[in-house]
Amino acid sequence: MTSDLPSLDTDSCDTAIRASFLHFLSDPDKSGDAHEYLDDGLLILRQGRVQALVEAVDAIDYLPDGTALYDYSGRLVMPGFIDTHTHYPQSGMIASHGLQLLDWLEQYTFPTETRFAEREYADKIAAFFCEQMLRNGTTTSAVFATVHSESVDAIFEQAQQRNMCLIAGKVMMDRNAPENLCDTAESSYRQSSELIQRWHLKGRNLYAVTPRFAPCSSPAQLEVCAQLISEHPDIYLQSHVAENLDEVRWVSELFPDNRSYLDVYDSFDLLGPRAMFAHCIHLDQVDRERMAASGAAMAFCPTSNLFLGSGLFSLDDARAQDIRVGIATDVGAGTSFSLLQTLNEAYKVCQLAGQSLTPLKAFYLATLGAAEALYIDHRLGNFTVGKEADFVVLDLAATELMQCRMEQAQTLEERLFALMMLGDDRSVQATHLMGQRQYSRSTQ
Ligand code: GUN
Ligand code: ZN
Repeated sequence: MTSDLPSLDTDSCDTAIRASFLHFLSDPDKSGDAHEYLDDGLLILRQGRVQALVEAVDAIDYLPDGTALYDYSGRLVMPGFIDTHTHYPQSGMIASHGLQLLDWLEQYTFPTETRFAEREYADKIAAFFCEQMLRNGTTTSAVFATVHSESVDAIFEQAQQRNMCLIAGKVMMDRNAPENLCDTAESSYRQSSELIQRWHLKGRNLYAVTPRFAPCSSPAQLEVCAQLISEHPDIYLQSHVAENLDEVRWVSELFPDNRSYLDVYDSFDLLGPRAMFAHCIHLDQVDRERMAASGAAMAFCPTSNLFLGSGLFSLDDARAQDIRVGIATDVGAGTSFSLLQTLNEAYKVCQLAGQSLTPLKAFYLATLGAAEALYIDHRLGNFTVGKEADFVVLDLAATELMQCRMEQAQTLEERLFALMMLGDDRSVQATHLMGQRQYSRSTQ
């Protein structure tokens, strides 16, 4: 350490990463300088956390002996992608043909989820899911398990082995599903309470109370969800809302006294910070105002919504109300583990709705925006000092086509747009968790 860099305490750093860097400090819709880009930067870490992000030329010669240096010069490093809604048990039934939501659940999803009563099978799919996440540069997901407690143990164990920050929970459903997939209000309370004790804030794991959706939970079970949240104020809640028109009609029959589908959750006190609702397609203005006022967030699931023919999410309507939104794969109704491919489809959904998704906004939705939607932005989402150093190393010329396109791109925005339209797991050179490399494409 020399007096050239009085503000940079490199003495205590243990790891450094050299690359181009892009991260967000705020929402690009709200500020002209929401992002920071360094063409030749150095990310300096101590014990897995960010100590500084600086120009490489200012610091490379001052790293203490013994610092582990990852030289990714020529590659683009971004905060790890965050998937705000997905289902690990559905990994093996991705791309099942021909049906819309309610028939798809009955014919494909429920039979598949039945297999997770068997711990060995759950372990195998949980391991596969975590490997797919890392292969695609995704470092955190909010994940549905199945109704079986063992399926939750399986995914948290796999996450913990990789030092991954995962949000997950036991699906709660006590009606309108096959008998062997149903719990009861009482058993779902007991099992969820045990799982919270076992997993919430253990290592990097976070627990989410997970009622599948209103049609599968009795009023008594929705009351249990509120009780769990009041007993554990820092836990999460995740569910589905207003995905499909037949589903919306069904909810109005099951809950005739509620004004809307969202109002069912609201009437059980389930809207608030750390509550994440997938889809949010068929909402009205009053619903959106309630989402905004409560602090609940929306998961935008474009590949899933197109695949099941559910409808077009309105990013502009969410934007107008300043509602927290993150991007999500929703595997296995979603058709890709890649958040790059998911942004590709998000762009097209916006186009069909006459809306615009800029590349900067898109990558914000997959990083800091998703972290804000999940209320983990104090830990993750960008490279500000003290954040946990989960990041993805991207090769913008991973294929011949991308290379050809990048040669013509003039600006950062153009390169980012080509990356999200043409990129996939081939663009992910490496994925790091808490600074440590957990995936490298070259060693696969
Ligand atoms: N609604 C209730 N369960 C599910 C599910 O597993 N996937 C999707 N896309 N929607 C749901
Ligand atoms: Zn889902």
